Amino acid sequence: MKYKPADARYEKTRYNRCGRSGLMLPAVSLGLWHNFGDVDKFEIGRAMVRRAFDLGITHFDLANNYGPPAGSAERNFGKILKLDLAKYRDEMIISTKAGYWMWPGPYGEWGSRKYLLASLDQSLKRLGLDYVDIFYSHRFDLNTPLDETMSALDTAVKQGKAIYTGISNYGPAQTAEAAKILRRLGSPCLIHQPNYSMLDRWIEDGLLGVLEKEGIGCICFSPLAQGLLTDKYLKGIPKNSRAAKPHGFLKREQVTEQVLKKVSALNTIARKRGQTLAQMALAWVLRDKRITTVLIGASRVEQVEQNIAALNNLKFAADELERIEKILKGD
Ligand SMILES: NC(=O)c1ccc[n+]([C@@H]2O[C@H](COP(=O)([O-])OP(=O)(O)OC[C@H]3O[C@@H](n4cnc5c(N)ncnc54)[C@H](OP(=O)(O)O)[C@@H]3O)[C@@H](O)[C@H]2O)c1
Repeated sequence: MKYKPADARYEKTRYNRCGRSGLMLPAVSLGLWHNFGDVDKFEIGRAMVRRAFDLGITHFDLANNYGPPAGSAERNFGKILKLDLAKYRDEMIISTKAGYWMWPGPYGEWGSRKYLLASLDQSLKRLGLDYVDIFYSHRFDLNTPLDETMSALDTAVKQGKAIYTGISNYGPAQTAEAAKILRRLGSPCLIHQPNYSMLDRWIEDGLLGVLEKEGIGCICFSPLAQGLLTDKYLKGIPKNSRAAKPHGFLKREQVTEQVLKKVSALNTIARKRGQTLAQMALAWVLRDKRITTVLIGASRVEQVEQNIAALNNLKFAADELERIEKILKGD
């Protein structure tokens, strides 16, 4: 059926400024790492993207290697764009990345100009686009001069193949250096994409301070710790869950007693707040004003709906934050 986006889509969410840039991003963004590959049902992915757009989610995050197989998430998203969203391209922020293994030989991963620029061309073909909005270096490469990696991002912008530059999984000192180089080149770093959730707080230890100082936005990936920070694993591992899938990045062994004890205690607090645990976990990440947006994944439409509804209750009382802190510390 022909898709017509909801007229009221911009009344459903909130938009935050990305660092000190001119770009606003939705407080909740949708990532296509899982559930959009050729191993997944195309119509479910398509329905999630449409629903997300209807709810005001304007930002869709990809990478060259998303699938499986690698590349298929970009190809499937390209199909969805063509079928449903081509007319709305200017209302969307689409990102992709290069850094992880993509093709054999010495030019198929890491941070050389050769790899990054060839990968971006391949991504654009799969997506059926002339440009992406954000092009990321997906990981820091110890063996390539940072000047070279950053110059590839800058070239992508100057070629008109990307509008903004971004980095992902870079540490605080690497980020400060990358920011300096990109500013000098004239393509300032728009955004950093690190892992951040109640169960993984490494960015509190230096990175957030660097981002604030440099005026770089922060989009946090896996804010639900791949689904651990929901109530779904409290009674075992459900059949359709990420931990149960052979290609899921979350492994059964990661669903431990110790984690579940914390999750169960957090779930009680969430219920008292009138939220699901997923919603509280997202609100908790967004409590820090340096966070621009939470980058969620979803395997069905209802999850997209539930997660965006987290925005209905973002406030935490001081004693709630204290209790959460105690649980996370394992006291
Ligand atoms: N830059 C990087 O290196 C990097 C790395 C990883 C991810 N990312 C980006 O971040 C995005 C999100 O990562 P993620 O998928 O790990 O995020 P996440 O939001 O932590 O986990 C998403 C998964 O949690 C479950 N879920 C979501 N909402 C739920 C709800 N309301 N109730 C119950 N379960 C729920 C679903 O899994 P089930 O299948 O179990 O339903 C869903 O696929 C990726 O798509 C990608 O764009 C980037």
